[in-house]
Amino acid sequence: PPVRDLESLRVVISAGGTREPLDPVRFLGNRSSGKQGVAFARAALARGAEVTLVAAHLDPGLETPGIRVIPVQTASELALAVESVAELADVVVMAAAVADYRPATVAESKIKKDGQGGGLVLHLVENPDILAALTRARRPGQIIVGFAAETAPTRDELLELGRAKAARKKADLLVVNVVGWAAGFGSDDNTVVVLAGDGSIVAEAAGTKRAVADAVLDEVVALRG
Ligand code: C5P
Repeated sequence: PPVRDLESLRVVISAGGTREPLDPVRFLGNRSSGKQGVAFARAALARGAEVTLVAAHLDPGLETPGIRVIPVQTASELALAVESVAELADVVVMAAAVADYRPATVAESKIKKDGQGGGLVLHLVENPDILAALTRARRPGQIIVGFAAETAPTRDELLELGRAKAARKKADLLVVNVVGWAAGFGSDDNTVVVLAGDGSIVAEAAGTKRAVADAVLDEVVALRG
């Protein structure tokens, strides 16, 4: 049985991909399956934590008994949900793929094509960065874990993007992975590099998403001391 080294800790995890509505039937979304976030939730539960999962469109089959789930659709809803439960959390893991932009307005009725072949321009506005807001509001002793999913062509470029993100978002740990058509999103396995807040490498992990989650939680436990 796993070591119960997160016994009674409140762990909040966001998972899945947000959907930003365009009109009553359409949205802008992403390929996140929610598998890595749910693997974190299951791993934390097995290690004794009290787990709250803020879930944005998980693939089917990821339901887990013993985990409190708050379902959300958009980045704004995810922000509200995470920020309300993060206040009392010991650990926050932002594994969700949050939309960076949302449509400036949501059409009340279905957008029609005009049939003139002229195309359609969408006006998007930037969503607030939830992870950066969480780290600004971090309470003493709270550990905040962020993700950086990138399509970098080489490991060095991936790490460079990760280091820049670590500096910008000020998470305690940043889990960096490559995504694209073949890796990361949707897959059952993952390969990650874990960076500390200063951008230095603290761990590397490859294997099932559960194994990756446990490796990152080992670093969370180490940081808590
Ligand atoms: O900047 P980027 O989207 O790559 O950052 C990824 C990390 O930031 C993830 O942990 C994701 O959950 C979080 N994020 C966020 N709010 C956003 C966009 C991303 O918290 N609006």
